[in-house]
Amino acid sequence: MKKNLVIALPKGRIQEESMKIFEKIGFGCRDMFSGSRKLIFPLQEQPVTFMIVRAQDVPTYVHHGAADVGICGKDTIEESTCDLYEPLDLGFGGCDVVVAEPKGYSAENPGYNGTIVGTKMVNVAERFFASKGVDVEIIKLYGSIELAPLVGLAHRVVDIVETGETLRQNGLEVKEVIFRSTCRVITNRNSMKNRHAQIEKLLADMAGQL
Ligand code: PRP
Repeated sequence: MKKNLVIALPKGRIQEESMKIFEKIGFGCRDMFSGSRKLIFPLQEQPVTFMIVRAQDVPTYVHHGAADVGICGKDTIEESTCDLYEPLDLGFGGCDVVVAEPKGYSAENPGYNGTIVGTKMVNVAERFFASKGVDVEIIKLYGSIELAPLVGLAHRVVDIVETGETLRQNGLEVKEVIFRSTCRVITNRNSMKNRHAQIEKLLADMAGQL
């Protein structure tokens, strides 16, 4: 029997938005929303299996071929070091990846040189500051990034801004947008080669629902 096409999804909003599209193209999976704690969902009627993984792990599963296809934010792709194809922009999940700082900080400290930057996105931050030829210290954090400049751990942060509410409520502002992120479909070289027709059809069907 032919192996199912494996699709990796992160839990939460991306999962919900993605499944709306998958339902429309005949890949609905009611079981996924039944409160089940299962992580793998082979469909009954279609040669497709969904896997639920941590958002930051989607590129890893796809890169290593444990999943043929994945859905994750451009921010996650940019932060990963995986070799991936990114054939479709789904448009939802929009956010900006920015440099932010306490309000007015740049008035006295306009340059980046010598600043300390807190972030979960170390690779994105390193590339961004290297491209500017500036020397900063990057401190890796795992959450509540906006706290770092408030308590003297960092001068600035590189983080995601969706509504801007977290920045606003913590007295921070955007200094610079690094890039705009939306959700993307990713795949890998092997799957693209070995399951070309199936993936091309999936991409076309998904694109038809955007
Ligand atoms: C993300 C991000 C910001 C916040 C931005 O955090 O790191 O803190 O969302 O959203 P907003 O612009 O709509 O306020 P997340 O919810 O993932 O929490 P964490 O960083 O503490 O893990």
